[in-house]
Amino acid sequence: MVSVVSRALLEVRDLTVQFGSGGRAVRVVDGVSFRVEAGEVVALVGESGSGKSVTALALARLLPEVSGRIGGGEILFEGADVCGFSPGALRRLRGGRIAYVFQEPMAALNPVFTIGFQIREVLRLHGGSGDREAELLRLLLAVGLSDAERVARSFPHELSGGMQQRAVIAMALAGRPRLLVADEPTTALDVTVQAQVLEVLLGVQRAEGMGMLFITHNLGLVARVAQRVLVMYAGQIVEAGPTGSVLRSPRHPYTKALLRAVPRLRGGGERLEGIPGVVPAASSYPMGCRFHPRCAFARERCAVDVPQWEELEGGGGVRCHYWRACSGSGGGVAR
Ligand SMILES: Nc1ncnc2c1ncn2[C@@H]1O[C@H](COP(=O)(O)OP(=O)(O)OP(=O)(O)O)[C@@H](O)[C@H]1O
Ligand SMILES: [Mg+2]
Repeated sequence: MVSVVSRALLEVRDLTVQFGSGGRAVRVVDGVSFRVEAGEVVALVGESGSGKSVTALALARLLPEVSGRIGGGEILFEGADVCGFSPGALRRLRGGRIAYVFQEPMAALNPVFTIGFQIREVLRLHGGSGDREAELLRLLLAVGLSDAERVARSFPHELSGGMQQRAVIAMALAGRPRLLVADEPTTALDVTVQAQVLEVLLGVQRAEGMGMLFITHNLGLVARVAQRVLVMYAGQIVEAGPTGSVLRSPRHPYTKALLRAVPRLRGGGERLEGIPGVVPAASSYPMGCRFHPRCAFARERCAVDVPQWEELEGGGGVRCHYWRACSGSGGGVAR
């Protein structure tokens, strides 16, 4: 029998990213490991400052050149280690095999060129040999810009925020990516268009069979979007697993706290519980478990011993000394 070795689209192993150098260097991503399979959506969630965007940028080595650098680990994309890529291979990777959609569409669009010009550029650099005009219109239609010819002639400022973000998604698709990294792709949009843009993104992800890393601070979005979830806190993954089990029976006190911070209707009124305290700065992560100063379940050991990653049955894992003791009770937040 021939054995088939499954190879993930993306496999990140023990990734460390640091900013600054020498004695001033701080690790903002510290030992992060995860996989994204072809056709799969993986959500990366966590509060502001937890290291989500830095992790995302590191995948295609897009960190700010002078200050940020990958300090260790491997980024295997389609089996090849991105850390060893030549400048030419990196150019082909960025906007080609890996495409990004960020929070702010105007940061991705050049204000002095039309939408059509900008998408044609990506087609020229990364597209196939087919008819570029036909492909341009196909892409704009695929993201729901039905007046495609007019949109192609428009400058970014002539479009609404929702239309701009659709154009950015079309531009990302123009390189025929296998992995789409969507970093808070709907956060900057009006509430009414957020859901529409999310549907467009998921529609094209399914149609193209792409893998997607979907970054959000809103755990409430995850159930609709992702098959698996990674929960990030202070530069580390603290819990991972299939979306259903993470949302139904979160193991880590931080995941529980994030779930309690999701808006939901209770007794007719919307109640949002924030997580007390803030994510510590990367230069001053606490000893032991990085979440312990904010955790209601913390015991003496948590302030001293670093919890190791523990694999769980059914996939995923957790980084907490006392996750078994915390399971079942609804709390998880220091008050
Ligand atoms: N260019 C930079 N130079 C120095 N530190 C940086 C730089 N970019 C990010 N950081 C630091 O890295 C840490 C992680 O930042 P990151 O942007 O990845 O957070 P995030 O999880 O994406 O947050 P948000 O939800 O606000 O987007 C933060 O402490 C941040 O201050
Ligand atoms: Mg971010």
